[in-house]
Amino acid sequence: MKILVTGGLGFIGSHTVVELQNEGFDVVVIDNLSNSSEEVLKGIVTITGKMPLFEQLDLREKKSVEDFFKRHNDINGVIHFAASKAVGESVGNPLLYYENNIASLIFLLQELSKQDKANFIFSSSCTVYGQAEEMPITEDAPVQQPMSPYGNTKKIGEEIINDVAKATNINAILLRYFNPIGSHPSAEIGELPIGVPQNLVPFITQTGFGLREELAVFGDDYPTPDGTCIRDYIHVVDLAKAHVIALQRLLNKKNTEKVETFNLGTGTGSSVLEVIRSFEKVSGKKLPYKIVPRREGDITEAYANTDKANNILGWKAQSSLDEAMESAWKWEQKIRS
Ligand code: UFG
Repeated sequence: MKILVTGGLGFIGSHTVVELQNEGFDVVVIDNLSNSSEEVLKGIVTITGKMPLFEQLDLREKKSVEDFFKRHNDINGVIHFAASKAVGESVGNPLLYYENNIASLIFLLQELSKQDKANFIFSSSCTVYGQAEEMPITEDAPVQQPMSPYGNTKKIGEEIINDVAKATNINAILLRYFNPIGSHPSAEIGELPIGVPQNLVPFITQTGFGLREELAVFGDDYPTPDGTCIRDYIHVVDLAKAHVIALQRLLNKKNTEKVETFNLGTGTGSSVLEVIRSFEKVSGKKLPYKIVPRREGDITEAYANTDKANNILGWKAQSSLDEAMESAWKWEQKIRS
């Protein structure tokens, strides 16, 4: 079985390539290297003993996408990660996000819609729920107007896939991630944020390593037990495994609808202060931090109801917050050494 992974050298993409190869799939990676590096291939080979086929390609170039599918007319499934993901950047440059995340999705779906049967896994986000009224969040929670162009690209992406699947031979699974963190336990691949990390965990590990002076905790006056925001932090390896299971579901024609949606989280919410404590526990280091005002656009809490993924997909997150933090810390030390 030959699987195309777009954005396969990125954070979640690279971990998914590893899990696919571990399960015996032949993987073709396309990536435009805008937020990743070919070095990641070395890590993938070290872990799996196998080099995926790699093509540097930009999905915004329609002709290149067409040519790619002419060269590879035997692809059994596509896992689509390639997208921009910085919430703040998307507010300043919305067109970049609509072009990167929507135009490329359309070109990909245009090619897949020419096939007799196509299987498509889409990287979506819990951001589509906004601040949900009820915790934990089920897949039936209403989708809300996103707070950022980035979030909107995920909402629109889901809508496009729903419409296209109805009219074509494409079957799809939308995976709504909560907060992916950590790295492969081997520390051969991991998250590589460019510049100052916007996300909590890479900021913590960089601060722990001494690259940043202190962590700014965005607000301690939220209506939560310790006043800081609550999220559902999921180990990226657990997340990667869910993609393989979702793909197998489509390949084995086990899906009951043309488009199915699953939350991918642990089901447990952790506050920012709990994440800091977890880091301190696994690293044995004291993390310098200060409380600063709230960050605009942050929601109070989001954690997943995982019943649907557990019962229908047959997948459950295995790693604890501590294990995920430990892997993130190991990776940070490795890339700085
Ligand atoms: N936080 C800090 N200090 C920091 C960074 C983050 O206190 O320096 C806090 C945030 O306020 C938030 C929590 O840590 O409470 C997590 O923040 P992240 O930026 O790591 O993650 P978000 O939940 O804000 O965003 C993530 C993804 C987005 C996605 C969103 C959906 O990064 O892509 O979840 O809710 F859109």
